Amino acid sequence: MREFLVVGHDAPTTPDFSLEDLPGGAGRLDLLCRCVTDGLLTSHGVREDARVHLVLGDAFTLTFDGAAVRQLHPDERSTAARIRAALERREDAIGHQPVEPSPGVSLVRKDFETTLAVLSDRGTPIQLHAEGAPVTDAARPDHPVFVLSDHREFAAGETDALASAEARRVSLGPRALHANQAITVAHNWLDTDGFSRY
Ligand SMILES: C[S@@+](CC[C@H](N)C(=O)[O-])C[C@H]1O[C@@H](n2cnc3c(N)ncnc32)[C@H](O)[C@@H]1O
Repeated sequence: MREFLVVGHDAPTTPDFSLEDLPGGAGRLDLLCRCVTDGLLTSHGVREDARVHLVLGDAFTLTFDGAAVRQLHPDERSTAARIRAALERREDAIGHQPVEPSPGVSLVRKDFETTLAVLSDRGTPIQLHAEGAPVTDAARPDHPVFVLSDHREFAAGETDALASAEARRVSLGPRALHANQAITVAHNWLDTDGFSRY
């Protein structure tokens, strides 16, 4: 299993956003949708051993599970529509009880710190950061939980939570990538046993 936790600092927490303005009015939801696509889809299939978790405005965590999700398409608009449909059920997410608006998609009222703690219990957290230690020197855990930020730098509280979770800080290369690009490189690192098997 491999998991990706992406922090959407400006992401919507209510469904009242337009599918026509994902980069602006929807707080870079275009980027988060690309993270879902690149985290779960290959050219002709779904990575069943992968999950993508989006932290929305530090209020909700929305999860796409590759093993169960259906009808996930590679375009941003249809993924954003799935996210909007999930947020339409937000009042049903009571306490830490998730709602599942469609198979493999769940919404829970958990902030970054809480979700990171849950994921760190079952996997090994790795903070992806351009200034981290080279990925080629890093061990490949059986169950990595890669943590990424959106278009913003990690906030101080998030960095503190990552330190508490003992997350290593790992770089995929010297150039700062978009979060979805970093997800693709991380997949490739695992797919190729550390860039060695092709
Ligand atoms: C667009 S970047 C964030 C931009 C932000 N201004 C910064 O410099 O961190 C999005 C995310 O992708 C990941 N990322 C980007 N480039 C990376 C790299 N070279 N190595 C590892 N992770 C990277 C990080 O998690 C980063 O927070």
